[in-house]
Amino acid sequence: MSKEKMVKTDELPPGRILGIESSCDETAAAVLENGRIVLASLVASQVELHAQFGGVFPEVASRQHIRTIYSIIDETLKRAHLDLADLDAIAVTRGPGLPGSLVVGLNTAKGLALGSGLPIIGVNHLEAHLYSAWVDLATTDPVNLMPEPSFPLLTLIVSGGHTELVLMRGHLQYERLGATLDDAAGEAFDKVARLIGLSYPGGPSIQRSAEGGNPAAFHFPRAWLEGTWNFSFSGLKTAVLREVRRMQEQKLPLPVANLAASFQQAVVDVLVGKTMMAAEALDAKEILISGGVSANRALRQAFLAQDAYPVHIPHISLCTDNAAMIASAGYYRFAYGQRDGLDMDVLPNWPLSQMSLPPRLSGLEHA
Ligand code: KG4
Ligand code: ZN
Repeated sequence: MSKEKMVKTDELPPGRILGIESSCDETAAAVLENGRIVLASLVASQVELHAQFGGVFPEVASRQHIRTIYSIIDETLKRAHLDLADLDAIAVTRGPGLPGSLVVGLNTAKGLALGSGLPIIGVNHLEAHLYSAWVDLATTDPVNLMPEPSFPLLTLIVSGGHTELVLMRGHLQYERLGATLDDAAGEAFDKVARLIGLSYPGGPSIQRSAEGGNPAAFHFPRAWLEGTWNFSFSGLKTAVLREVRRMQEQKLPLPVANLAASFQQAVVDVLVGKTMMAAEALDAKEILISGGVSANRALRQAFLAQDAYPVHIPHISLCTDNAAMIASAGYYRFAYGQRDGLDMDVLPNWPLSQMSLPPRLSGLEHA
């Protein structure tokens, strides 16, 4: 049995961190103070570049990172009114992500570390999505920061590549409860959007279209996978495909808004339902949701509508990929002593479950 001893951020050593993100199709840099206060944060999105391919084209992504990354970092430091000499460390996404994209951020960070003498910290992108809920965009006043999440914390990561339920008993402590067996939630949004003729990226397109539709128009399946904390979205995707084919064969016009709303409702029901069940079963104090799909309005509203648990949801601009979350996770890693070498390689398939700090170090006491 372990007893949680909450370590508050203000009990940790101070640190001003430059974060760099380039794992997929966003080039981003940010400077954060003590993991929670944003001094500057910039994101250069490649969405328009990839829209013509209907998804991220890896080689195009890495070459665009090369073109953008130095000016993004330079402008971020200017907006923070800081030089590298004013910082304590450089945090950079090491994985998971596209190898050719990760390499650009990692090598840039190494060059900056070598030139400045600052320590470099490799950050797991999924861990960073969780830490986006610690970032406060509303104030730079340390005494007015929003309350930080409390442990044990039931977390849901819903992004383009991952759907995972993870229990955090302390900082940098992750117990993976379950994950998707097939498509990630974001991937399901992207694939279904294409099926019903909506543009890439599918999440925001489906959200927009669903606002004019009836979520009860179609009764799409919900895969509860009882007895596990896993998810599956491929049956739902196939059910939408079947409806689309049926209507096309009958030469009926596609009720796009109703299809979008009914699909979105099925995803929201399962994500919210399983997260709430897991929070109860594992005796969590609070819930945290993060990742690109947590930008979804219906999902946010459904979590906020329940009153069983306080819910932490990142600011909408921090749900999709950004560097503030990298600098935040990098700060906690810095505070707990992580320093990496200049020979560090990218880790394109880096599971969050490999990231846990020994409980002794993260402030967990064993009773
Ligand atoms: O976290 P993220 O920016 O990148 C990854 O790490 O994967 O997530 C991108 C995913 C995409 O699949 C996108 O369609 C989805 O997040 N997404 C949304 C919304 N905004 C982005 N899904 C549903 N509703 C949204 N509003
Ligand atoms: Zn992401």
